[in-house]
Amino acid sequence: TQRTLVLLKPDAVRRKLVGEIVGRIEAKAGWTVEALELRQLDRATLEQHYAEHIGKPFYEPLVEFMLSGPVVALVVDGERVIEGIRRLAGPTDPIAAEPGSIRGDFGTIVRENLIHASDSEESAIRELKIFFPGLS
Ligand code: GTP
Ligand code: MG
Repeated sequence: TQRTLVLLKPDAVRRKLVGEIVGRIEAKAGWTVEALELRQLDRATLEQHYAEHIGKPFYEPLVEFMLSGPVVALVVDGERVIEGIRRLAGPTDPIAAEPGSIRGDFGTIVRENLIHASDSEESAIRELKIFFPGLS
């Protein structure tokens, strides 16, 4: 099976959507939450995590938003979980996301789109090392 990194962003925590979102992930047959932690991120971690976006116009406001409160970081293991959680989340822009998806049901603002999930096996390996370096 695969493992992926999920972050429930500060808007999800502030709006008390953690249970709702984790519930949707747990409800999928055969997927397992292997780690789950409420965590205040720092700038250095976000610089690594969002390295591909450094220099883009949305980068600074994105980092400020991600520093604005704690996130919930999860490791999820399961069958095709990388593609699967991206599908559960929906597209980056919540207005373009179908109702039924996490962003489609709860979001309106591109930056405050509730959830991050690794977008490929390569990204998952890279991001899991940043957020859960001790994971075997
Ligand atoms: P993540 O799962 O969080 O990585 O989102 P994503 O893969 O759907 O989007 P991407 O990696 O391209 O961008 C990372 C995050 O930056 C997004 O989730 C948004 O919060 C934010 N973002 C991306 N593009 C834009 C944009 O055009 N405008 C703004 N304001 N924010 C953006
Ligand atoms: Mg991304």
